[in-house]
Amino acid sequence: MITEFDTWGVHEQQFWLRGTTADQPVTFDAESGMWNVYGHAEASKVLSNPKLFSSNMMRLMAAEIGADIEEASAGELLYLDPPRHTRLRRLVNHAFTPKVLADLEPRIAGLTHELLDEAKVTDRLELVSALAYPLPVIVIAELLGIPASDRDLFRRWAESLIPSTSTEDVSIVGRFEGQEEVTETTLRQRKEFGEYLAEHIEDRRRHPREDLLSGLVHAEVEGEQLSDKEIATLADVLLLAGHVTTTMLLGNTILCLDAHPDEFARVRADRSRLPDVMEESLRYLPPFAVTSRATTAEAEVGGVTIPADQLVMVWLGAANRDPLVFDDPTEFRPGRDPNPHLTFSRGIHYCIGAGLARLEGRIALDILFDRFPRITTIPDEPPRFIRSSQMLNAFTLPLAVSS
Ligand code: HEM
Repeated sequence: MITEFDTWGVHEQQFWLRGTTADQPVTFDAESGMWNVYGHAEASKVLSNPKLFSSNMMRLMAAEIGADIEEASAGELLYLDPPRHTRLRRLVNHAFTPKVLADLEPRIAGLTHELLDEAKVTDRLELVSALAYPLPVIVIAELLGIPASDRDLFRRWAESLIPSTSTEDVSIVGRFEGQEEVTETTLRQRKEFGEYLAEHIEDRRRHPREDLLSGLVHAEVEGEQLSDKEIATLADVLLLAGHVTTTMLLGNTILCLDAHPDEFARVRADRSRLPDVMEESLRYLPPFAVTSRATTAEAEVGGVTIPADQLVMVWLGAANRDPLVFDDPTEFRPGRDPNPHLTFSRGIHYCIGAGLARLEGRIALDILFDRFPRITTIPDEPPRFIRSSQMLNAFTLPLAVSS
């Protein structure tokens, strides 16, 4: 058991906690020129007002880089504002209805067993490579309608979205925040993935099937069809937004339980506690610590006036530990009621895959607990974390297990 996350030097690297000691809920950082929002009420206000706080950050740079915003953000659900966001979101919502999720349940359970069988576990399980990473990738691929035979190919492209897992000295690459380090290989693989998707889109135009890609190709909103670029980007966004985050949910929940053995024993004995445990893990170690918005006009937040056209960083991780909302916020305490964490954001961009992530997490953890009566971290072989200011993600999490 490892009780202190500090032991791994995580805190020093992770800014997800930034703001827990801040005495002001909103601050301006002159060096970066960015505004930081830490308080829960303040973060909720920003996220709930897309008119004043736009998700289209490109607007701030468009003039400088001469980009056509409409063209560049086609299909970028996360970065669209209404009315384009509303239109696209309505379409994608169909892929995440409670019925779709309920139908997925046996498939997720089957895949979890399959992956654990393939890992041929004796007394050691590397959770990330065996289960936490591949499971969400395969689920998204299947949702989209990518053939099972291409699973490994798809997984390789998904892996190209995160930096090399062979070094700790990495910074995350992604569209969530500034591109910090984009390698040539990554770019090549992204291109390959785009071409692969284009082929499938073309195929679904001619031979529609019962999958999300076909649904997107043939969907019409207000008499208009989505362009191929919009569909490809959407598929890409789903893959990007939906896989590493769920990987993190699984790993982080195990880490929280490992550090709280009493809670671990309770949830093992009573699986109905699993949703509460996951919810608290989501609050305590949010996979994505921060999101951003750009002001469209002068705005007031927490008594601070933010001028127009400013970049605003919304620290979800800090808001999740706001003592005005959560008692003893630095304690991991499943069963908080209510537990209004902002890990899945709030407002119109509220995570579309939250239900899917919770479902995958619950099923995978339940099966893990069934198959392995003992699961602990290995003090001599601690987890390794991706070094990023935006996410807390173990990319290796070796566990000692007994069957
Ligand atoms: C624990 C797992 C997950 C976490 C913590 C997470 C977190 C988030 C957050 C914070 C946002 C909103 C960002 C903002 O407001 O700027 C978001 C949006 C989104 N997420 Fe998730 N996510 C998770 C899983 C998933 C899954 C499994 C999928 C799909 C397969 C998914 C797809 C999306 C999409 C498409 C959006 C954009 C929604 C919109 O802009 O309207 N996410 N997610």
